[in-house]
Amino acid sequence: MRLKPKLCLGIETSCDETALALIDSGQVVESVLASQVDLHAKFGGVVPELASREHYRWLGLLFDDLILRTKLNPQDLDLIAVTRGPGLLGALLVGIGFAKGLALGLNKPIIGINHLHAHLLVVGEALVYPALGLLVSGGHTHIYYMLGPNELILLGKTIDDAAGEACDKFAKMLGLPYPGGAVLDACAKVGQADAKLFPRPYMRNDNLDFSFSGLKTAGLTYVQSHAHLIAEGKAYREHKTPVSAEFNNTCASYLLAVADTLQLKLHRAYLQLQTQGKEVLSLVVAGGVAANSKVRASMQSFAEEKSIPLLLPSMDLCTDNGVMVAYAGYLLGQLGLEHDLDFRAIPRGQKIPEDWRPKTL
Ligand code: KG4
Ligand code: ZN
Repeated sequence: MRLKPKLCLGIETSCDETALALIDSGQVVESVLASQVDLHAKFGGVVPELASREHYRWLGLLFDDLILRTKLNPQDLDLIAVTRGPGLLGALLVGIGFAKGLALGLNKPIIGINHLHAHLLVVGEALVYPALGLLVSGGHTHIYYMLGPNELILLGKTIDDAAGEACDKFAKMLGLPYPGGAVLDACAKVGQADAKLFPRPYMRNDNLDFSFSGLKTAGLTYVQSHAHLIAEGKAYREHKTPVSAEFNNTCASYLLAVADTLQLKLHRAYLQLQTQGKEVLSLVVAGGVAANSKVRASMQSFAEEKSIPLLLPSMDLCTDNGVMVAYAGYLLGQLGLEHDLDFRAIPRGQKIPEDWRPKTL
């Protein structure tokens, strides 16, 4: 009989971070990461072909490094978990190809991981189900009702830009360096937000979907009529020239609009679940934008008001990492799930099938 997996390797290559991690009985043993941010910054965004090549260049080196640091024998692995989507297809294929090769060579089980679910699950064992989950990343803004690690019910999503995209694009309009979200946040932290400056878009409906295009347009209109801000952003990008209080205030106002929009729809989701008699025992907010100070503060106040425990990943686990993939693999492995070697990579925009098979006991 095959035992439940203890030592799980996670491999993440869905976008511009090559990351691996080892989890032992739910605890992080070690994690390694090679970021391609500087490479893509030259182009103002991720170049898919370059991303794939970089993953290919780094994966083997990082795997060797991980094994060296932990002094583990690859034969000790119980399960290999790899992000199968959503993401850039070529980038995913590099990680999946590597993972399948390992699984075959070591004769170990493998499981393909939904990157979005992994972002949420990384908060660890404090997550009590049923939970309300908000995943806010560069490409996605999803609200889930979470019944278990393998049962995430999608309640709402963005119909256009994701929250992270809305941040990155506004930062770009301001002339700030790529990727803009974190820089925008750094400016916002020392600014004063004006709650009336930007709209909370797509609220006059009764659904749980998001649309950030209206906010983006409002941001563009504002920036175009305040061109001196663009000059400041550019000077910061090129020479690290400090920006003005007005610049910081603008960033703070924009991010407050993002945070409020997320909170308003999450609140609506909570009320709808309550009306349906569905319990919410914890609130999880994860993904790159969960690193944002305004989003964190806004979620904190929402959770306090509703007296629900809020689970936010640490800053390094908000953005893409290998730990979340290893941990999601570990959790699914505890449920006896794994994949055959023929599971597919799923690019962004396509639904990820739940085509695990129970392992043969
Ligand atoms: O989850 P993630 O690392 O990658 C995806 O799966 O997309 O999220 C990346 C996104 C980017 O849009 C980035 O600008 C945003 O997260 N981000 C932030 C912050 N840190 C990362 N946005 C706002 N404030 C931050 N502190
Ligand atoms: Zn991500």
